[in-house]
Amino acid sequence: MTTTPAPTPARTIGGTTSTWSWHEGSFVPTSQARVPLTTQALQYGTGVFEGIRAYALPGGRELAVFRLHDHHRRLLRSCRLLRIDLPYDADDLARATVELLRRNAAAADTYIRPLAYKLSLLPGTRPGVGLAGVSDAVSVSTFLMGHYAPPGGLRCTLSSWRRPADGVLPVRAKVCGGYVNSALALDEARAAGMDDAILCNERGHIAEATTANVFAVFGNRLVTPAATADILEGVTRDTVRALAGDLGLVYEVRDVQRTELFLADEVFLTGTGLGIAPVVELAGRPIGDGVPGPVTRLVSEHYTALVRGELDDDRGWLTRVPLNPAPVQHSAEETS
Ligand SMILES: Cc1ncc(COP(=O)(O)O)c(C=O)c1O
Repeated sequence: MTTTPAPTPARTIGGTTSTWSWHEGSFVPTSQARVPLTTQALQYGTGVFEGIRAYALPGGRELAVFRLHDHHRRLLRSCRLLRIDLPYDADDLARATVELLRRNAAAADTYIRPLAYKLSLLPGTRPGVGLAGVSDAVSVSTFLMGHYAPPGGLRCTLSSWRRPADGVLPVRAKVCGGYVNSALALDEARAAGMDDAILCNERGHIAEATTANVFAVFGNRLVTPAATADILEGVTRDTVRALAGDLGLVYEVRDVQRTELFLADEVFLTGTGLGIAPVVELAGRPIGDGVPGPVTRLVSEHYTALVRGELDDDRGWLTRVPLNPAPVQHSAEETS
């Protein structure tokens, strides 16, 4: 007789999946949120997604979602590129996200994953990898996920994989299929015993890491590749632009050459998942003194204070979500 192993909580993207998801307009138990095997996005990568973080505030009764509307606006821009036509605007998506967090009622750091995707051919559409004539769907799920960057800093490779050029694949949008490039680069880095990879673009200039933007620090200057370097224009990168102004640092956007990273005083990565993460080693060479540098630490401390609600939120970047003392019981398939 065989025994069925007890189900373990899903860890699809790194954190423990929360009980409820928002799926095609309804709040459903995550375990029941399904897509058909024939889903176009599953077959062809024709989906777009976002990564958003909600931070637990002191006291354990409130979450603060960081730049919620900016992320949903970027999701809708990515949708436009793939002709994904959702019946929601950024406010609707933000409201659904807040309600989802409230229902999941986790007073712990949470990662939010909106996903919009091509579903199935509409009647009368010719078969093929087209974008028009295909139905669209959207979901939001959440995961418990704390800080995961190694405390001593990241060791990175300079990847043998190149960031695709804009004329090949629009990395400026968060298109699911484009993340095969990130997956291959991260796999190569991990196989070499490293934490992450930094990729150059087809012109041989620095582009970005697998899921984060790159900054080189020279004195009080923060230098980062331009949007035209085949990068995703990160929300965290833009937050660093604002923090640089607050901290009296110079924010410089331009082409960055490989050699500059080796010669920089400091290098750090920025991303919703990673936060501000120092790079201490690149392709077997130490960056600066091989330890997190003072400018990176300064930016990182301010970023942490900002997202955790310890600084004035004069830019309105925090959406506070009060949590009930005990999780609310809901029946399945409740519509929003
Ligand atoms: C390829 C890539 N670049 C950069 C970033 C950083 O973007 P953000 O700061 O908006 O999370 C991400 C993460 O979403 C990413 O996947």
